[in-house]
Amino acid sequence: MDGGSEAKLLSVDQRDEAPDDLPDYLVKTYSWAYLRPSSLLIFDNPLVVGAILWGNIWRLMRAACDEFRPGQRILQAASVYGSLSATLAETVGSDGQLEVIDIAPLQVDHTRRKLAGYPQASVRVADAARPGGGRYDGICCFFLLHEIPDAYKHAVVDGLLDSAAPGAKVVFVDYHRPLPLHPLRPVMQGVFRWLEPYAEGLLCREIRDFAAERDAFTWRKETFFGGLYQKVVAQRKM
Ligand SMILES: C[S@@+](CC[C@H](N)C(=O)[O-])C[C@H]1O[C@@H](n2cnc3c(N)ncnc32)[C@H](O)[C@@H]1O
Repeated sequence: MDGGSEAKLLSVDQRDEAPDDLPDYLVKTYSWAYLRPSSLLIFDNPLVVGAILWGNIWRLMRAACDEFRPGQRILQAASVYGSLSATLAETVGSDGQLEVIDIAPLQVDHTRRKLAGYPQASVRVADAARPGGGRYDGICCFFLLHEIPDAYKHAVVDGLLDSAAPGAKVVFVDYHRPLPLHPLRPVMQGVFRWLEPYAEGLLCREIRDFAAERDAFTWRKETFFGGLYQKVVAQRKM
């Protein structure tokens, strides 16, 4: 192979250029949370992450990581504040691989710094609707779907399911409609109305309903904390 073709292949494989434009939903709704350097200082703090999830962060992270095994090649569909990426890297271990993608270059740089001590982990810019990277043994999508519009939810669910090898699990952990008498229901209704305008689509539909190829997978769902959170596991049939 001549040097020119090698350079071309490398630039495709590394997929590390920023997308031309960040999506409108991210820029208009979540700049304060993800796109400013000050966001990292404020939100990437265990106390803040714990408080946002009403103390359930460890339980939900554990529920996600329990679905994966040492030695696997795992995709994390977006950066997450806190220690999920490090815990996933520890779960796959030194014989496995963790690839984290995020659409925002600022988040990619930050996650890269956080994962510097894990040689099995890499981080790159990509849209979860078109992750690239071929087929994975497992995929983790942690609290991304409620932050994207419904049309994008279809694209992301399909993009992630397409990236699952036969037998691989795609694990979605996210909000869910709480039980009618849940004491936090009125508070969360306010949070969703004012801060999370795309969450409603996830509260009134099953995640599997966003999947075009849903029959190629077996689906399992578990809810937590009075139904406020869900874990959905789609496993590609062999
Ligand atoms: C996973 S979600 C929310 C996670 C959670 N609130 C937390 O603790 O960080 C936040 C991340 O999703 C990223 N994101 C949004 N849309 C995306 C997409 N289509 N593909 C990949 N990453 C995306 C944002 O840039 C942001 O870093």
